[in-house]
Amino acid sequence: MVATHGGFCFGVKRAVDIAFKAVKNSEPRPMFTLGPLIHNPQVVEQLEREGIGVIQSLSEIGGGKGDPVVIIRSHGVPKGTLKEAKERGIEILDATCPFVKRAQSIVESLAGEGYLILVLGDEFHPEVQALLSYGDGNATIWDGTLSQGVKKVAMVSQTTQPLENLKRAAREVVESLSRDLAEFRVFNTICESTTTRQNECASLARKADLMIVVGGANSANTGRLAEIARSIQPRTYHIETEDQLDPGWFEGIKRIAVTAGASTPDWIIERVVARIVEKTGGSIRYGAGN
Ligand code: F3S
Repeated sequence: MVATHGGFCFGVKRAVDIAFKAVKNSEPRPMFTLGPLIHNPQVVEQLEREGIGVIQSLSEIGGGKGDPVVIIRSHGVPKGTLKEAKERGIEILDATCPFVKRAQSIVESLAGEGYLILVLGDEFHPEVQALLSYGDGNATIWDGTLSQGVKKVAMVSQTTQPLENLKRAAREVVESLSRDLAEFRVFNTICESTTTRQNECASLARKADLMIVVGGANSANTGRLAEIARSIQPRTYHIETEDQLDPGWFEGIKRIAVTAGASTPDWIIERVVARIVEKTGGSIRYGAGN
């Protein structure tokens, strides 16, 4: 069984298309992504072959680097980074996912209205770092505790969080309601593609005897899919490419399901599926068949 909602999501596909089109349509000039464009080393290598390098910070662009273009990945960047690029005259190609942009503008306008913004997500993830920056000092990671004396609180989520986590966190805030708290607003900033992908992953894991989750080892959303699958089907493996498949895993197994993170290109998924078919002699079916 192969997930119908696995692989590139809308925002990642858009970012990758923007990057490839930029090389194709521009005169040769230095081009960089700020951080790897997506959490998939094979795609990052492809981009490098096309001449798009990776920098970790704008400070790496010195005077001798011509007329550079910097591509912003789908996770977005902190507000200050865009400001710095503007001040230094660095051309920006903004491939921030529109769903991430929506979350950023919600945080920005809530901060302007005097809310304390609780961000549910992985503190060290670039998307979350960028979201926090839009709070202009009034946004903080939700760590399960609400400071006393706060009057207006709002909660937003990293786009890739499971909906259950947001529901749980919102309940925790409600349970810690104090006399001071006059208002609590919850914004569902979880991207629909994440929810659909995670639901299908869970559904596949319930039907499969073995689950393969394909995606970069450093891809948070792939890791989360693997977690969801593993909680249902302990025989779950997170791999990056078909070469990591161990034929021994398939012994005595009838149904294998394959899904992939939002930063996994179709060609990698196809190779994984083809290798499984080659090793097992099985047939392919798409979807969880609900
Ligand atoms: Fe955007 Fe959702 Fe993908 S927020 S980058 S479409 S997972």
